[in-house]
Amino acid sequence: MSHVAAVSAPGKLVVLGDHAVVYGHPALVTAVGQRLRAEVTLLDDPVLELDAPDVGVTGYRKPLAQLGEGDIPKGAKSVELALRRFIAAHPIKGGMRVRTSSEFSASFGFGSSGASAVCVLGAAMQAAEGAIDRRRVFDLAYQSVKDAGSSGSGIDLAASAYGGLLYFVTGGKAIEPLTAAPPFLIGYTGVKVDTGTIVAEVKARADAYPAVIDGISRQITSLVEMAKAAAMKGDLRVFGDAMNFNQGLLESLGVGSTKLSQLIFAAREAGALGAKLSGAGKGDCMIALVTPERRAAVASAITAAGGTVIDIPCNAEGLRVES
Ligand code: PMV
Repeated sequence: MSHVAAVSAPGKLVVLGDHAVVYGHPALVTAVGQRLRAEVTLLDDPVLELDAPDVGVTGYRKPLAQLGEGDIPKGAKSVELALRRFIAAHPIKGGMRVRTSSEFSASFGFGSSGASAVCVLGAAMQAAEGAIDRRRVFDLAYQSVKDAGSSGSGIDLAASAYGGLLYFVTGGKAIEPLTAAPPFLIGYTGVKVDTGTIVAEVKARADAYPAVIDGISRQITSLVEMAKAAAMKGDLRVFGDAMNFNQGLLESLGVGSTKLSQLIFAAREAGALGAKLSGAGKGDCMIALVTPERRAAVASAITAAGGTVIDIPCNAEGLRVES
């Protein structure tokens, strides 16, 4: 065992089932090809030394016994809480030096803090044990985001750990890699949203109208199952229809926006087989299903409608060891 490890993990975009997945329903998620990297070196002293310059953290040092306590800088929180979970489950003799760096902007809603928890856990496991167990990484990361007070489903963590296209049920009750790789195109609205705030707004609506939200969530579940089956058969038309239906239901949950609709309609009118918002809604990104023949036309239409095409691969590889 080398006691030093470098790993990387991708960001994510939810493909279907956004919001309903918070309430125990399934969803599909794709890993996106912009990555976060973490290097872990085991130390003799029982301290955490952290450098995460992309999120404004340099020269951060804390005794391992105090992880999670006191004032934690925002940029250090997900790493610190993840390592606290790791050490509680797998006691180590000394400490750890951690360095993270990111290829992707925190503004797109690709799940950068989830990816950093997954990445650091993967690197710690590789350095301390010489191998990575994705399921254990997911479970520890999910516990650590709950420690941080998140009410999220954990879907971002599963995508970063496993990669590809995944069928996922809340809290990792199911994490099923699908072999399909549908051709997605991503458009960014330019509007940054806070996922926690929008999840709380939908929760308030669910409390006020439980039967309505339950009915919508059940319909979303049937679309996720329909899209999963279509993906396995390579039936892009049905997959795209499921995305379009899902967009209507997300609108009815109250998480649409004018800007998202402009990009979604532009994509459909230029020949996308399906288009919908991705994630919390009200901003961040939309995702379209586009055959290679229509890709350039749909990309131009999204740009003409005021969006920014983020031209990166989807269904990307999950957590992996780097040299
Ligand atoms: O806003 P994003 O891209 O981080 O996605 C959030 C997805 C939700 O379903 C709205 C919340 C969740 O935790 O699953």
